[in-house]
Amino acid sequence: MKAIVLRKYGSSDVLKLQEVEKPQPNEGEVLVKVEATAINDWDWNLMRGTPFYIRLLCGLFQPNISIPGAEIAGRVETVGDNVTQFKAGDAVYGDISECGFGGFAEYVCVPETVLALKPESITYGEATALPHAAMLAVQGLVDEGQIQPEQKVLINGAGGGVGTLGVQIAKSIGVTDITGVDSSNKFQMMRSLGFGQMIDYTEQDFTQSKEQYDLILDTKTNRSIFNYLRVLKPQGTYVTVGGTTPSLLQALFLGPIIRLLTQKNVRLVNLKPNKDLNYINKLVIAGHIKPVLDGPYTLSEVPEMIQYFGMGKHKGKVVIAIK
Ligand SMILES: NC(=O)c1ccc[n+]([C@@H]2O[C@H](COP(=O)([O-])OP(=O)(O)OC[C@H]3O[C@@H](n4cnc5c(N)ncnc54)[C@H](OP(=O)(O)O)[C@@H]3O)[C@@H](O)[C@H]2O)c1
Repeated sequence: MKAIVLRKYGSSDVLKLQEVEKPQPNEGEVLVKVEATAINDWDWNLMRGTPFYIRLLCGLFQPNISIPGAEIAGRVETVGDNVTQFKAGDAVYGDISECGFGGFAEYVCVPETVLALKPESITYGEATALPHAAMLAVQGLVDEGQIQPEQKVLINGAGGGVGTLGVQIAKSIGVTDITGVDSSNKFQMMRSLGFGQMIDYTEQDFTQSKEQYDLILDTKTNRSIFNYLRVLKPQGTYVTVGGTTPSLLQALFLGPIIRLLTQKNVRLVNLKPNKDLNYINKLVIAGHIKPVLDGPYTLSEVPEMIQYFGMGKHKGKVVIAIK
């Protein structure tokens, strides 16, 4: 089968389209014919071997993950022994980052536990755009943020994978006052998804504004945590899903003290892959969410598209269709 293979860390030219052996499912695993896959932060970081924790997780000097790709949607081709949930022909999708990656390939074997049935109403391309970003959005807004319909909500990094799904999830809960922060070239798309107000981060620092919010979901935490507290209402909640290491460490260690002193909440999302796929399936079937796709591109374009993703040129999720 064809796959994008990573043998060393570096820029996009370290990724090669190669012929590799087709895998066979072990006990509890299914073999999936990958129809579509998506690019996310994992691939950008894994390719470069940076930040440093990537090397601690995936190999100090060279990657021990040979085929990147964390999200898949496809068809079950065969199942291993003791597989109970799926049969050949089922359309499935899921985040496979905790079972060795391998999405940038024509086939991958994964434990059945990481997959959910794909709703019939969405394409494979749309399904592969969901697991990672939708789980971050649900776990940020619902689990950590305890979002409520009457709240005033702001999403920072609003035009990316998490933001474009987050606004739709918030609307499905009944929230109407949603501000999005991103660059202005994404405003038209953001408005069509339900953002009522938009702030261009290249022009304006939302933490210096006079507005205050009940809930802030941030995909790009890059300031002192105290800056965010300024634009939180009393008892408001700031949730980060990602950002720079110093800011995240500050949120982690100062969050409990800030809560004691100010009644404001600072929370971090520790992603639980695939935990809420059934919740997302219900929203998809009810027509509440539809992912925004950038693509589809081809398997051979993966190296170029990882670079494109890393440069922040994408809108929504970068999707690869595998023929
Ligand atoms: N918590 C966990 O367990 C966990 C696990 C995996 C990943 N993550 C994190 O989750 C996040 C993924 O978010 P995503 O998929 O939505 O990312 P994304 O698709 O890359 O989108 C990020 C958006 O933010 C915009 N942006 C860039 N710099 C900004 C700034 N300074 N202020 C406001 N917006 C800015 C980008 O636009 P431009 O075009 O202007 O660049 C882009 O539209 C990452 O931070 C990742 O590290 C967390």
